[in-house]
This record gives sequence, C-alpha cells and structure tokens, in this order.
Amino acid sequence: MKEQLEKIKEEALKQIAASDALEKLNDIRVSYLGKKGQLTSLLKGMKDVSPEERPKVGQMVNDARALIEGRLEEAKTALAQKAREEQLKKEVIDVTLPAKKTEAGHSHPNTIALEEVERIFIGMGYEVVEGPEVEYDEYNFEKLNIPKGHPARDEQDTFYINDSILLRSQTSPVQVRTMEQGKLPIRMIAPGRVFRSDEVDATHSPSFHQIEGLVIDKGITFADLKGTLEEFAKEMFGTETKVKFRPHHFPFTEPSAEVDVSCFKCGGKGCRFCKGSGWIEILGCGMVHPHVLEMCNIDPDEYSGFAFGVGLERIALLKYEIDDMRLLYENDVRFLKQF
Ligand code: DAH
Repeated sequence: MKEQLEKIKEEALKQIAASDALEKLNDIRVSYLGKKGQLTSLLKGMKDVSPEERPKVGQMVNDARALIEGRLEEAKTALAQKAREEQLKKEVIDVTLPAKKTEAGHSHPNTIALEEVERIFIGMGYEVVEGPEVEYDEYNFEKLNIPKGHPARDEQDTFYINDSILLRSQTSPVQVRTMEQGKLPIRMIAPGRVFRSDEVDATHSPSFHQIEGLVIDKGITFADLKGTLEEFAKEMFGTETKVKFRPHHFPFTEPSAEVDVSCFKCGGKGCRFCKGSGWIEILGCGMVHPHVLEMCNIDPDEYSGFAFGVGLERIALLKYEIDDMRLLYENDVRFLKQF
C-alpha cells in the first residue's frame, strides 16, 4: 500500500507540474482527490491494513493529500499570474500608432447646389428667407390665385392636416408671406422643403425642395426677369449656357414661362442627357399677377415684380449628372463622397 501511495503521489505531482491550464488542474484534482479519485479509493483499502499500521498509513495518506492540494493551489496561482501577465502584454498601448480618424461625412449634393444658388443670388443683392413647411391652404393656394376647385390644385395634391392646414406643395406661399409684411422693395429667395402626394420613382418623391424667388419694385419688367435668370443660368451651369423662355401658365404670374437651358453636356447638339432636344427645363417663372399683388396689399399700378420657382433636386441631379432621385435620399456616404 505504501508503494502504491508513493506512486500515486509522484504521478499526481508530475501531472500538476506539466499542467498549462486551469481546467487541467481541475481534472487532476477530480481524478486524485475527488469522490471517486485514486487517493480516495486507496483509503477504502485501509480495512486490509493491520490495526497497528493504520494510524501511520492514515497519516501518510493525509500528508499526500495535503501535498497534492498544496501543489494544485500553487500551480493555480502561478497559472493565473502568467495569464494576467500575458493579458497585460497584449493590452500594451503603442502610443506611437496614428490616431483613429473620425469619419467627417460629406455635404449632400442638395446642400452643395443650394449653397451655390444662394451664393449667386446673394451676389445680386437678394435676401434668403424662410417660410413654414406646415402652411395654411390660404397661403399655399388661395392667395396665389388658386381658389378651391381650380384645376391647378390637382397637380399639387398634398398632405392635409385639416381643411385649412396642409404641408405646403410649393415654396410660393413664402412670396405671399413676404409681400404681406409690407416692406418694399423685395428681393428675396426662399429655399425649403415641399410635399406632394406623389409615388416614389426615379424622378418623383413625396418630399423634395424648391427655391422660390421674388422681386417687387417700381418699374420691374419682364426684361429684368429674363436678364436675372439668364445671369443665374450662366453662373450655375457655365458661361456658354443659353436660356430659352417658353410661354406657360401659372395661376399667380401673368405672363408666365418655363425656362430651358441649353444642354451643358452636349452644348445643345442633342444627347441622351437632354433626350435629343438640346434643351433642359429648369424652372417656372413669370410676372407677379396684379390680383396677387392686390391680395397682398400692394398697389399693382405702382409696383410690379417677377417670381420664379426652381426645383433644387432637379438642379442637383443635372449639375452632378445623377440619374436617379432616390439616391439623394439614401444618405449613403459612398454616394455622397462623389460630389
Ligand atoms: N410653384 C410652382 C410649382 O411648384 C413653380 C413656380 C412657377 C414658381 C412660377 C414661381 C413662378 O414663383 O413664378 O410648380
């Protein structure tokens, strides 16, 4: 029995010394000191030992147990220490490494185009003003010569809060708000978000942006309108750009026109970009209707003016040659970074 004990002890100590993981130490503990462990089963053989020998052998078994337990504990501490040292080594911070860069994002093409439009008009002495996105029917339609039942309302169906309040379908109500303030002359642009109950596709969105323009003063004529918008088009799309005024109808201007610019891609020869026509439509405009002036308490015999409305997305898509409006609303930085 003594030899057996000696053998178990030696074997256990050898295994402990060779252990390189805490789990292994635990396995060793179980296999020697556990309920069914080797040392425990050795104790069960005590009944075969002579009564005189029993205390001595018992003492030896206990000593062996204590020794193994002690070594297990030491090995455990040593392993834990080693693990901690390794972790600390791994976590050492190399202060000479370059710092992580914060991704700064990128201006949206709409923003870039708007800033360009604002720069051009501010340069011509215009003020930039704002109006509310939630607007009265009265301002969005009535005071722009679009009474209830007018066919122009069909093209600008929008989202209604109630009978008299809606999400503005155009920035034109800012014209009315500015004129009502009664400070003349007026030279302003009003950029902002507008809404229509349109389905989303490559050229439509239920929410987009317009830039309204309004000039009211004594003696303003259609020539001023033409000169101003031609200057704008040249600054925006290049000095070679030609403009064309096509007669059109808007309820709040008379006469009214739509403005085309010569295709800046092909110079007017006709290409895929301008659908072969050589021209690209960019805005609507006209001389402010005398009835609109009257509704805003401005005397049409004394004052006259012109107005225009530009689709911001349209300008951005044209300028940056983007072929799908939906790309503008996804806010994918990889897309935005191209402009
Ligand atoms: N508000 C018009 C629209 O959304 C665009 C427009 C046309 C604005 C002519 C104007 C204008 O100021 O004079 O279709």
